[in-house]
Amino acid sequence: MTELSGIIDQYKNRTPESARMHTRASGLIQGGVTSPFRYFEPHPFFVARGKAGRIWDVDGNEYIDFNNSYGAIIAGHAHPEIIKAIVEQAEKGTMFGIPGELTEKLLQELLRRYPSMRYFRLTNTGNEATLYALRLARAYTGKDKIIKIEGSYHGCHDAVLVSDKPLHPSHMGPAWAPSTIPESAGILPDTVKNTLVVPWNNTDALEQCLNRNLGCVAGVIMEPVVANFGMCLPAEGYLQAVREITRRHNVALIFDEVKVGVRLAPGGGVEISGVIPDIICLSKAMGGGMPMAAFGATEDLWDMLYPLGDMMHYGTYNGNPISVAASLACLTKVMTDQAYTHMNKMGEKLTEGIEDSIRRHGIPAVVTGKGGMRTVFFQETIPVNYRETLGNNRDAWYKWWMHLLANGLYFSAPSPYEETFISVGTTEKDVDEALQKIDDAFKAL
Ligand SMILES: Cc1ncc(COP(=O)(O)O)c(C=O)c1O
Repeated sequence: MTELSGIIDQYKNRTPESARMHTRASGLIQGGVTSPFRYFEPHPFFVARGKAGRIWDVDGNEYIDFNNSYGAIIAGHAHPEIIKAIVEQAEKGTMFGIPGELTEKLLQELLRRYPSMRYFRLTNTGNEATLYALRLARAYTGKDKIIKIEGSYHGCHDAVLVSDKPLHPSHMGPAWAPSTIPESAGILPDTVKNTLVVPWNNTDALEQCLNRNLGCVAGVIMEPVVANFGMCLPAEGYLQAVREITRRHNVALIFDEVKVGVRLAPGGGVEISGVIPDIICLSKAMGGGMPMAAFGATEDLWDMLYPLGDMMHYGTYNGNPISVAASLACLTKVMTDQAYTHMNKMGEKLTEGIEDSIRRHGIPAVVTGKGGMRTVFFQETIPVNYRETLGNNRDAWYKWWMHLLANGLYFSAPSPYEETFISVGTTEKDVDEALQKIDDAFKAL
């Protein structure tokens, strides 16, 4: 068995310049990173550039990139169509704070992909999209409380940074009625008292929660395919049942498609499930690698927003021309039907190869996911909710993940709760090479 210390030494020997940069950065910013998700032991690598499915670090090492910026890259790095669109717009000006000619085209493209929505409003990050989605649900229903899924992440604003990844079973409360646990110091108890938590894939628990809070719940927010405690697919009929329950209780159903939107299919989770939420959140892949997000809603919620209604949505950078140009090029020029077919094919090949390796090496692990997205859990069974991921052997995962990294495969972001994001730039050769590295890493375990 390869020792973990040997793998870490291999990584350190390959990345001395990253180590130096990280030491310097740590004197300027806590942990040397601008988001805690980016830190891992012994130090993160610092990136220099990327092209299609590969990236290079500041030490000159090449990596197959399956993280693709947490899913924000879907076209592959430095795609020529997107660079062209950005440069053309930059030459005309980067920011005006005045409506521009490309915005209409982008909105039309979003509505083409999500025909059940009546409108989309552009904003900049997934965080903003979920914040406005909740405000819209509250404005529409006139109620205060929201329900989220235990273990899921919807951004870092106070209402949703709750019961994200609680680790201590003693704090979690009963499985059918999880406790509301704020994840950060500084989140007010008065704010999170309005956030209720239910387990994923459990309609009885949702119904009971709504009954306990009769007439008080504005909305239920969920990813239509969970991608935030690793990949966790909805059980057969689950989303349909959630739709029926929320409709019966007059509660807005919000699909947070920040990770899966325009990625798992042109019309994301709505298209693959056939379930129509009241409100939807998009970001990441839709931006073509630039900060871009949107929240949208059905006809019934058309006149809620100012100036038709009194719900406010602000933002200096909303619909900024560079992000709009990149987004439009990504969605209309790169993300064709063939592009989705290619990504899905690469994804299936990857899953089959990983399953084969797991079997041959007799590792107690499973791989689960959809399209270009998948997670490897070091446990015997595929989890159906957050608590079932607690059996994941984190030490084995870290050793396996680090082995991949030290050998040039950035399989996912540095957390056992993350997943791969295949891009259109991921080639058959990338997948073949990746599968060899994955097999070597399982063998080393
Ligand atoms: C499902 C989901 N919603 C919201 C967010 C927040 O998005 P952002 O980081 O762009 O603010 C994320 C980020 O990963 C996410 O995965």
